[in-house]
Amino acid sequence: MVIQTFRTVQDMRTQVAAWKATGLRVGLVPTMGNLHAGHIALVKAALAQTDRVITTIFVNPTQFGANEDLDSYPKTEKSDSAKVADAGGHAMFMPSSADMYPAGFSTRVIVDGLTDCLCGAARPGHMDGVSQVVTKLLNQAHADVAFFGEKDWQQLTVIKRLARDLDIETEICGVPTVRDAYGLALSSRNGYLNAEEVDIARKLNVILKKAAYDIAAGGFAIDECMKAAKALMKAGFSGVDYVECRDADTLELLDRSEGRSCRIFAAVHVGPARLIDNHLVN
Ligand code: PAJ
Repeated sequence: MVIQTFRTVQDMRTQVAAWKATGLRVGLVPTMGNLHAGHIALVKAALAQTDRVITTIFVNPTQFGANEDLDSYPKTEKSDSAKVADAGGHAMFMPSSADMYPAGFSTRVIVDGLTDCLCGAARPGHMDGVSQVVTKLLNQAHADVAFFGEKDWQQLTVIKRLARDLDIETEICGVPTVRDAYGLALSSRNGYLNAEEVDIARKLNVILKKAAYDIAAGGFAIDECMKAAKALMKAGFSGVDYVECRDADTLELLDRSEGRSCRIFAAVHVGPARLIDNHLVN
């Protein structure tokens, strides 16, 4: 299937306006490329709910810290476009950095409260960079629905909040995490791991699920999270940024699951990669 490629906001907007004028609903799937089956699940979810699907690829510099993998982040535009085309996607939007952040760019988007914990705390500035670029992409595309993975639950929560707070009309839709046969959440960063490190990485979901079960059974969240952090270190992870049980919507830290919709969140280090995951607690 031939896929359209937009390099400028204007080109994308012209096509979106034409689609909408004929009554078609438009879906948006923002990504940083190097696409895997998790990203493609977003494209498929978008195809199920909308008539025309635009996948964006932009490795957003403002969400990377000074010592992170911005420069080495894999750039695989051609194979990414082919994967999206195979899945039935209609278009790619691949803007340049100069277009996204022209000289003199000076606007920040900060979602208070939701961003000072979890990855927001472990990666200072990261969530602000995500909020900034996603606000831009939503405003650029004017899609009916935009799709984000539950794997990055804090990111999804922050985006839902900013869209509501800033009266962005695009509906924000979460898509369940795609995992390998061992439960490891698919991630571009899994590609940095050797075979031994993959075996270790696969223990993350097992340990988190056990902690989630024990908290749901009445365990004290701080104790169960502490036990999980120790189990992760014993399993071979080289570092644990956090293991925490939080309210699924407000991200408030919880002592117990009692009657709340809550999730357990973790960020860990193995080999050269930092991996995150989260699970429902009850
Ligand atoms: P990226 O890491 O490329 O992820 C793009 C989208 O794919 C995100 O919504 C992410 O949650 C989703 N995703 C990744 N792995 C997934 C999996 N295993 N299952 C389901 N969904 C998965 O997240 C970003 O890019 C950026 O922060 C972005 C939102 C594009 C802003 O720059």
